[in-house]
Amino acid sequence: MPYSVDELDIWKSEGVRRVLVLAEDWEIEEAWGNAAYYFSLLKEKGFEYLHSPIPDGHAPNKEQFFEIFRWLGKGKGNLVHCVGGMGRTGTVIAGYLMLTESLNAQQAVEEVRKYRPGAVQTLNQFKLLLELELSWSRPTP
Ligand code: 4NP
Repeated sequence: MPYSVDELDIWKSEGVRRVLVLAEDWEIEEAWGNAAYYFSLLKEKGFEYLHSPIPDGHAPNKEQFFEIFRWLGKGKGNLVHCVGGMGRTGTVIAGYLMLTESLNAQQAVEEVRKYRPGAVQTLNQFKLLLELELSWSRPTP
């Protein structure tokens, strides 16, 4: 979670163009006072954004994950954030890697943990990755 306008400017200077926000409204309010204010700043700074909230400790269901996956594929310079950048973000990025790099769940978790030790935190989150693994490894009828 970014906590200042300066951080948004740093994102911009580092090539971020699109921001996927996984935090819930109340978490954005804790950081920014008001969720609408945060989204208006993202817009003002020229970022495209998608708000796809996931409760802390949880994972998206497959339908929400595929919506996120499609959105990420629509442009470059994607940044994904939740609050800690561990559980929800790790899960979404691991799922993305599974589909784009043909990794299984275990490999994808190992890959994100190279960059963010401890990423993917809960059973719920690992379960989504296992569901993705089962759905892509199953032969098409
Ligand atoms: P996440 O979960 O936002 O899904 O990564 C959290 C991880 C760490 C903290 C909060 C939420 N934390 O405050 O350290």
